[in-house]
Amino acid sequence: MSAALKTTGGGSDAPRHFLELMDLDTPTLRHMLELGRRSKRGEAPGQPLAGKTVALIFELPSTRTRVSFEVGIRQLGGTPLVLTAKEIQLNRGESIKDTARVLSRYVDAIMLRTADVAQMRELAEYATIPVINGLTNISHPCQLMADVMTFEEHRGPIAGQVVAWTGDGNNVAQSYIQAAARFGFILRIATPPELEPPAELLAWARREGARIELSNDPVAAVQGARAVVTDCWISMSDEKTAAAQNRHNMLMPFQLNSALLRHAAPDAIVLHCLPAHRGEEITDEVMDGPQSVVFDEAENRLHAQKGILLWAFGAG
Ligand code: CP
Ligand code: NVA
Repeated sequence: MSAALKTTGGGSDAPRHFLELMDLDTPTLRHMLELGRRSKRGEAPGQPLAGKTVALIFELPSTRTRVSFEVGIRQLGGTPLVLTAKEIQLNRGESIKDTARVLSRYVDAIMLRTADVAQMRELAEYATIPVINGLTNISHPCQLMADVMTFEEHRGPIAGQVVAWTGDGNNVAQSYIQAAARFGFILRIATPPELEPPAELLAWARREGARIELSNDPVAAVQGARAVVTDCWISMSDEKTAAAQNRHNMLMPFQLNSALLRHAAPDAIVLHCLPAHRGEEITDEVMDGPQSVVFDEAENRLHAQKGILLWAFGAG
């Protein structure tokens, strides 16, 4: 693992953080997925989180992450505590370091969604309880656990399969790169040259043995793929900086529409983390078409995250 990219300290008594896929090995991630699948099949033990409270801190909006964590924690017998950054002292300049120390005295785990990955890393450094990454400007690992679960439910083992990404080289794309290294699928990424994912991350993934092809040609990327994935053109953490019109012009050739999907394998599935901007990165026809599994994918956020929680609490 690259020292520059490494995000967790480790150590046997260290809290079990779920920060980046790259921090965890394949058997550990596979174990979490299996816990999530068992829970989905109704085979999980009763109330493993009874008496536990999990703080869910949102510095950015959310539908799926908020509801799936809140419901999942309740289903496991725990108590979720949703905190929007606006209503806590973090918003008035209290440091994330002090927030981590204080919350560690009250609750048993913290999930954070933030536009600044440095906040996530500092929280994890100072918290004495597990920290779960609920999206940052550079990653969305919970989403990838759900995406891998969804692919495997529909098409079997993902290792060795071709997955194509078309659009912005954003946080979700960057977690796809980490997932390719950990789950062994072949990842083809097509983005405009200006929006390519970071070279350092690609170099890390390749050192880990990942097979990743980067291009600026969506048709070449999608050719024969078993899954085609896209995401919004302007991510939440880019909203202030991205010149909207420019992005739209730049990304229109990467739109996931029927013409592009025809180049994929005939049984290719379509994934999108949602929320979708219909008519921008994905057309209605594809989103509502027979190859789309985006609502199974959304449902699997719940199941995959229950697997992550069970692992973080040492309950599985
Ligand atoms: N996919 C996802 O994380 O959705 P939300 O932003 O609604 O949580
Ligand atoms: N890339 C998107 C994902 C939303 C779940 C964003 O960061 O806004």
